[in-house]
Amino acid sequence: MQYSLRNDYNETAHPRVLEILNRTNFEQTGVYGKDIYTEQARDLICEKLNDQDADVYFVSGGTQANLVVISWILRPHESIIAPSTGHIAVYEGGAIESTGHKINTLDSLDGKLNSDHIKYVLSFHRDEHMVKPRSIFISNATEIGTIYSKRELESLSEIAKKNNLLLYLDGARLGSALMSDQNDLKFSDLKDLLDIFYIGGTKNGALFGEAIVILNDKLKKNFRYHLKQKGALFAKGRVISLQFLELFKDDLFFDLAKHANKMALVLENGIKKAGYDFLSKSQSNQIFPIFPDYITKALAEKYEFYMWSKFDKKHTCIRLVTSWASDEKFICKFIDDLNQLSKS
Ligand SMILES: Cc1ncc(COP(=O)(O)O)c(C=O)c1O
Repeated sequence: MQYSLRNDYNETAHPRVLEILNRTNFEQTGVYGKDIYTEQARDLICEKLNDQDADVYFVSGGTQANLVVISWILRPHESIIAPSTGHIAVYEGGAIESTGHKINTLDSLDGKLNSDHIKYVLSFHRDEHMVKPRSIFISNATEIGTIYSKRELESLSEIAKKNNLLLYLDGARLGSALMSDQNDLKFSDLKDLLDIFYIGGTKNGALFGEAIVILNDKLKKNFRYHLKQKGALFAKGRVISLQFLELFKDDLFFDLAKHANKMALVLENGIKKAGYDFLSKSQSNQIFPIFPDYITKALAEKYEFYMWSKFDKKHTCIRLVTSWASDEKFICKFIDDLNQLSKS
């Protein structure tokens, strides 16, 4: 059987997540997110965020979160600025475009946006003959495994506020970003810097689910109506919130992300030691090594991974993702196999 390093949701869920679902299984509660557990999960997230006024809603997946949020914060003629590698621009089947909103994409070598990007878009969107940029989409960690420093996020937040743009952060891999050993951003810093974001559960130990956090008061009113209209108001809402309750109870969420990052570091160091380079300097649980094609082909017989891009005629860049459940035994085996192949 191949060991998968393709993504961070190859396993189902952390046992504690399954346990809380099982333990509460026969309880009768309110529905559509109006239940005691959803309330507790919301309070817990607010407490960690140090913001008692944040609104928190639980939805089933990342594309759904992006679709619900972006269609909520934009009026029909407004657009969202994103890196050209951004998940909404590449991997969501046109979900955002299907709402009629333009995505202003910008090339960025490290997968991040900075204030120059924003100034550039604003410089030529001056009147009603073009869409009106109204929001900024970033993800942390980014699509290529990099993370935002506190200063970088502050700078984006400043330019957003100055130009009446809403700053939205896709946190599908927020746990991994915040637990990176290169990170200087605190979870609670987010409340001062963003208008809205989501915390990814699917990729960090939950069975499924993401928590949308609305910080900007102007975006709060009637959000439940919008959720319902988009088919995102889950009847058995507690199934998602219970998972977040368990994950945030005692920092399990952050511990799981730490493990994923540690496994990525073991992989990265082993690959470096074997003499290979990387497409980008990853700072989280995704790494992008470049191998000669014959090595990639041989590794693909034993391991599942994503072919990221062709590097040159004889080399391919692959994406390796570690998870909250990655088994160090298999990670070390990957390095052993790579060393063996490199010798032959
Ligand atoms: C940054 C980011 N956002 C959104 C998504 C979409 O999540 P889903 O596949 O649950 O719709 C992903 C999934 O890979 C992602 O990496």
